[in-house]
Amino acid sequence: MGVTRKTLEKKVSQGEKIAMVTAYDYPTAKLAEEAGAEILLVGDSLGMVILGYESTIPVTLEDMLHHTKAVTRGAKQSMVVADLPFLIAHLSTVEALKAAGKLMQEGLAYGVKLEGGDAILDKIKALTEAGIPVMGHLGLTPQSVNQLGGYVIQGREEPAVKKLLMEAKAVEEAGAFALVLECVPEELAKEITDILSIPVIGIGAGRNTDGQVLVLHDLLGMGGDWSPSFVKRFASVGNTMLVGLQQYVQEVKGQTFPSEEHVIHLKEEVKLALYGGRVDGIS
Ligand code: KIV
Repeated sequence: MGVTRKTLEKKVSQGEKIAMVTAYDYPTAKLAEEAGAEILLVGDSLGMVILGYESTIPVTLEDMLHHTKAVTRGAKQSMVVADLPFLIAHLSTVEALKAAGKLMQEGLAYGVKLEGGDAILDKIKALTEAGIPVMGHLGLTPQSVNQLGGYVIQGREEPAVKKLLMEAKAVEEAGAFALVLECVPEELAKEITDILSIPVIGIGAGRNTDGQVLVLHDLLGMGGDWSPSFVKRFASVGNTMLVGLQQYVQEVKGQTFPSEEHVIHLKEEVKLALYGGRVDGIS
């Protein structure tokens, strides 16, 4: 058995931070697991970083299922959590159960992540009671970007702080096994982490949460030039890929690739039988 909610709880109680990162396919899942990430999130951020949409809103359940299957093929130990895409948690409980069930039964995810607080507490409860591990997501919830007016910091003013504190507690009480807290002031994230007994994983939520999550393409430098201020770039993979691709194109055009070491030849006897050894270009 790989990482479970118990593993996370144990690590948190021992003061170890949880490393969570998005993964969208077989190779990224393998690499993230090898790097030691406890949780791989098949985030609907794949809509932006993989599928080229402007937001996560167009991402479908089929998209999520396709990528979740690839990630679970690559991850043998890490916990794989898949996002429930836009709107599903706000439809009926049956819709939410069916979608989460698909991600677990066909996608083999450990559990699902649902964005939102008060509006979806009944779904969090129903899923949990059905045996589906639910990760909550509060603060900046990207599926609500249009309604929020952009990717803006949440929980800055007193009423918003109080609302987030209450919703975090309610999400835990509804049965969530962990909570992602996105783009909120560090002080608020600390208070939420202190009052909850489930692990709180932050993204742009400062240093005091039980763990951190980042979008893979942001941390590896595989997206565009811009990234939010809370992202640290740990590598410049996009640039490395570009240099490799440029070199490839250049060598194809300059006819230096393929060179002798990359060429497959016929065996001498076959060559003799076929062409009597007299074919141009085949030595
Ligand atoms: O979709 C995603 O990648 C996420 C993370 C930003 C937490 O929800």
